[in-house]
Amino acid sequence: MTQNSVPDPVAALFPDAAERRRVGDRLSEELERALVRIQAGPVAPTLDMAAFREELASYRFETPRPLEELLHWTLERMQHGIVQMANPRYFGLFNPGANFPSQCADRVAGLFNPQLASSASSPVPVEIERHVIRAIARRASLGDRATGHFATGGSEANYTSLLCALTAAHPQFASDGVRAFPGPVKFYTSRDCHIAWLKVAHQAGVGRSSLRLIDTDGRGQMDPAALTAAIAEDRAAGAVPVMVVATAGTTGGGMIDPLHACADIAEAEKLWYHVDAAWGGAALASNRLRPLLAGIERADSITIDAHKWLATTMGCAIFITRHAHLLSEAFHASTSFMPSSVAGVDPYLNTVQWSRRFLGLRLFLALGAAGWDGLGAHVERGVEVVARVKERLVGLGWTIANESALAVLDAVPPATLGDVRALVGRVVASGRAWVAPTTFEGRDVVRICATNGETTLKDVDALVAVLNEPG
Ligand SMILES: Cc1ncc(COP(=O)(O)O)c(C=O)c1O
Repeated sequence: MTQNSVPDPVAALFPDAAERRRVGDRLSEELERALVRIQAGPVAPTLDMAAFREELASYRFETPRPLEELLHWTLERMQHGIVQMANPRYFGLFNPGANFPSQCADRVAGLFNPQLASSASSPVPVEIERHVIRAIARRASLGDRATGHFATGGSEANYTSLLCALTAAHPQFASDGVRAFPGPVKFYTSRDCHIAWLKVAHQAGVGRSSLRLIDTDGRGQMDPAALTAAIAEDRAAGAVPVMVVATAGTTGGGMIDPLHACADIAEAEKLWYHVDAAWGGAALASNRLRPLLAGIERADSITIDAHKWLATTMGCAIFITRHAHLLSEAFHASTSFMPSSVAGVDPYLNTVQWSRRFLGLRLFLALGAAGWDGLGAHVERGVEVVARVKERLVGLGWTIANESALAVLDAVPPATLGDVRALVGRVVASGRAWVAPTTFEGRDVVRICATNGETTLKDVDALVAVLNEPG
């Protein structure tokens, strides 16, 4: 080494073009083969985890191994070591088989690795994300002034809504936190909400006891009368209500809270109104299903997860608000090292994150390739898949506990099939399909959700067959 040289790049980290192409081509082929196997194979993991941990322990990172070998090993173990979202008989939680355009987006983002903190670093990506957010906001009829951003998940987007609500509720919240309020803060959502709201309360510093879970009406929707009563009771006790959260597509039952009634209450009580449409918000893509979300346009803010029913890779959540200035107020910062500081535009000045990945490309490419009609057709297909499951199960003596117009079925087996949790355990262990146990309005149910965009009638029949096998 002379004073006029630097060491060569580390070849294992930065291989030359020929090597990149060779390994990349091989990876593409192996991924394609893996997908075929995943779609035909067991849905649940089959790997012996004790043996796997031992194998993993042999990776001591002292002797480098060829990347090709590592990739092959990883794909092998992934094929046997996870619940397979890409399997069309996965009828589980809201995790999709990822659509192809969003997988392409991950490759593009991986190569360029753009820093989306600032508009000066990533003018094109920042503009693409803003464009997609505006398109979703228009679809939700929130008006042209609505703004927002992509977030890692519904939990981050929901957290953002609470910070906006608190910032709106008291001018001193930014400087003094909850000490600014004359009493304990309260916010409200149904007891069928996604329970990450408790973590949101914790991390926002208002405490878990600030979340008041409101009773449902017997059909899985928040009871507006109970909501009004809870707010009045809290005010009388000296507490400070700040936000009402309606869920549009509950996690367990796919129910949509009465969005207009909740908006009326929030308006009358002068509270921030957030609609958590993490899953159900996808219905906005369908002209047929969109009316189910009537009232969402009255929200101060909305959460939608594109990585649920819109089937992008994880995590690709969307936060939208009609109050751009509150995002800037909640997340502003000032430093000389950033390449730009454009108020209202630069993501690091308007969001929870600082360094950020190009998440929005996933939805941009999916929306661009399929159009609203294509995304709408994908969402409607999920509803049809669940309708076929429902017809078959009802014909076999099952009852349906939820009346969701979305793609989740909460089904109660006939007594001959025994306990719900044991039944679900049998189905999952069989590897032939994947469903979840949950409770809906106090009853144990089998939760069946269409999340894979390639599920066929044959898959529906396979699910129905395994669900009906006695223990
Ligand atoms: C209604 C609802 N809100 C929020 C979340 C949390 O979203 P994420 O898992 O993307 O953080 C979920 C997840 O299923 C959900 O169903």
